[in-house]
Amino acid sequence: MMSESAATQFNSPAPTRDLLIVEDDAGLQTQMKWAMANDFTVHIAGNQTDALALMERCNPALVVLDLGLPPDANGATEGLATLGNIVSRYPGTKVVVASGNEERGNALKAISLGAHDFFSKPVDVEQLRIILERAWKFHVLEEENRRLNHINRDALQGIITASPAMLDICQIVQRIASTDVSLLVLGESGTGKEMIARALHGQSDRAHGPFIAVNCAAIPDNLLESELFGHERGAFTGAIKQTRGKVEQAKGGTLFLDEIGDMPLALQAKMLRFLQSRIIQRLGGREDIAVDVRIVSASNRPLQEMIGQGTFREDLFFRINEVTVTLPPLRERTGDTLLIAHALLQKFSETYKKGRLEFNQAALAAINTYAWPGNVRELENRLKRAVVLANTNRITPTDLGLTAAPDGDDFVTLRQARKVAEIDAIRKALASCNNNLSRTAKVLGVSRPTLYTLLADYEIRANPR
Ligand SMILES: Nc1ncnc2c1ncn2[C@@H]1O[C@H](COP(=O)(O)OP(=O)(O)OP(=O)(O)O)[C@@H](O)[C@H]1O
Ligand SMILES: [Mg+2]
Repeated sequence: MMSESAATQFNSPAPTRDLLIVEDDAGLQTQMKWAMANDFTVHIAGNQTDALALMERCNPALVVLDLGLPPDANGATEGLATLGNIVSRYPGTKVVVASGNEERGNALKAISLGAHDFFSKPVDVEQLRIILERAWKFHVLEEENRRLNHINRDALQGIITASPAMLDICQIVQRIASTDVSLLVLGESGTGKEMIARALHGQSDRAHGPFIAVNCAAIPDNLLESELFGHERGAFTGAIKQTRGKVEQAKGGTLFLDEIGDMPLALQAKMLRFLQSRIIQRLGGREDIAVDVRIVSASNRPLQEMIGQGTFREDLFFRINEVTVTLPPLRERTGDTLLIAHALLQKFSETYKKGRLEFNQAALAAINTYAWPGNVRELENRLKRAVVLANTNRITPTDLGLTAAPDGDDFVTLRQARKVAEIDAIRKALASCNNNLSRTAKVLGVSRPTLYTLLADYEIRANPR
């Protein structure tokens, strides 16, 4: 069942499952400890002072709290006070209270004070186990949401991702944005290198300045120098007027040197000189022009190997890679492909006024199994085409130019198909309910606990970006 696996599913280290039992009856202490020891690391306290000391020391995720604690063993004042202290100091902890059968009023009072659940004495161990497992799931989901909220606040505009590696990169970009550190973005074609460069610019103090991109691979070698540094009138045949280059145009902003691995060696030397002095001369000109720009470079070629082969200058490499991030290919980002596919499907259906489009089950399976060699760009292109050409509201693998998952190893079992359909339905319901879990559960026709279980089992996050 769900236990440690719930935590590892979310890529966080498996926590020890600490359980604190606050109970003054020695017999019950032993009975519960014995019953729960297989599933939890059990700590025992007989009064409020010991309970708070153990909270401090072990920070357990779960607490079973007897309301009848000394000095008010026959009432509930000390138990409720203990509850108040625990929930206010340890908001992540789930407290399950125990009350005598005839004390329902106290149990309800405890819930209103922040207890997660309650059970009646005498203790039914099986029932308590179910209650604790459910409380544990809530705890794991809440922790995960807290973590995601925290990261999401730091993530970058427009970048859709739930992949831990990408979120880390977003955080690095955020952290260096306000500095003038040069960033090098590596990654396969279509992984989002330019997107990261633009996000860095947007987050920086230069955001109101220009963002100027130069694609070193797209401009013929003999024109690239003039493109970058500009030229004076008459500098070469056809130079009929003075022209400012991209470097100058980026003044006060960010210069994005895309595919820098394709820059010819002679120009690499000139670029290095500029990066050292921050001064340019236009082609055919003598004037020194100081230019303040932030440099971001990108390459899908292995620059370090190129240094070994003598096709990329090592000194230039050191200038441009004060910080390097390497974007993982889409196939290595767990969960991102469907997440991005859904977001883009929505975006394109709006852009092309196609109403509500959906993926059919085979399309979802195909998207999930295809390797996406062209990464997000390919996903974007295939989706755009599918949306434009769609004549029903169901996108099929054929619309995407993908073959349905074939027979043999990739055969889609009914169970897989059901899983894909359920994931799809949950995602859509979450989106349409703005991630409100109560409403989502209602829309899906399941109870809230069932929804929580499904979210955990399918590793769906309630608030992805
Ligand atoms: N995480 C993402 N969320 C949303 N859109 C994305 C994401 N990553 C990339 N894209 C989109 O995919 C397309 C390709 O991204 P981008 O141009 O930044 O990639 P690239 O690595 O520079 O690709 P290339 O090597 O082909 O130049 C862009 O339209 C971009 O907006
Ligand atoms: Mg690019």
